[in-house]
Amino acid sequence: VSPTRPCIGVFDSGFGGLTVLRALLDRLPNADFVYLGDTARLPYGTKSPETITRYTEQALRFVQQHGAEMLVVACNTASALALPALGPTAIPVLGVIQPGAEAASTAAPEGSTALILATEATVQSHAYARACADHGLQTFEKACPLFVPLVEEGWTDTAVTEQVADIYLREALDSLAAPPAAIVLGCTHYPLLRALLTRRVAALGLPIPIVDAAEATAQRALAAVPHAGDRSHRPQHIAFFATDSAAKFQRLGPRFLHREIEAVTLVDLDA
Ligand code: DGL
Repeated sequence: VSPTRPCIGVFDSGFGGLTVLRALLDRLPNADFVYLGDTARLPYGTKSPETITRYTEQALRFVQQHGAEMLVVACNTASALALPALGPTAIPVLGVIQPGAEAASTAAPEGSTALILATEATVQSHAYARACADHGLQTFEKACPLFVPLVEEGWTDTAVTEQVADIYLREALDSLAAPPAAIVLGCTHYPLLRALLTRRVAALGLPIPIVDAAEATAQRALAAVPHAGDRSHRPQHIAFFATDSAAKFQRLGPRFLHREIEAVTLVDLDA
């Protein structure tokens, strides 16, 4: 990674990864970013490991062509399924599963159980179970396939979403002998449900800490490119790319990024 101002690629199946970009922008003021959202092929959470690996390889090539010196795979599903399958890469690639497990281990004592909420594909991969085991944590992995479409719809605070959350939480808790010590939001979209989930968990009389990978991922990125953490007077430049509807990206993206998105360039990764 170069000693000049680094450019960091951030990749997700859509705009959910903007929650990770937000943490990176805070932690790495002396870096520029290339964000690629593969909105045309979202959701990844229901696809096979082979397909997700192929998409991730394309994304890696794309950000490299746009000057990125490191890739942060913000998508939990791609991190879980594609990263173990990637061979040696020309630039460092950082996923969100290890940081997510690290975040769980800061909230849950060794030997306890973390409840992982994620997409079907991430759950099937058991990537979180393995990463958490490295920290001495047990896991119960629960697929919550309705959360992504609800968040995409902007329904982060509706009665319907509360009901869906209650059902998922109840199903998970019924499978566990004791309440989990932490809940991990193992999907890019779930941080937008943090407030709602916190309320529902409290309503069950269980004050369980809820963690996500964004902050821990940003810290790992900073460790890989320490000078990106230097103070800088130059504003960070972010180039946004999407594989479908730039207009939708611009409309929904700010919910995840907490700032306006001025321009999004449409790209075709198969071209
Ligand atoms: N980005 C995906 C993840 O974090 C969620 C959306 C999708 O299924 O593509 O798992």
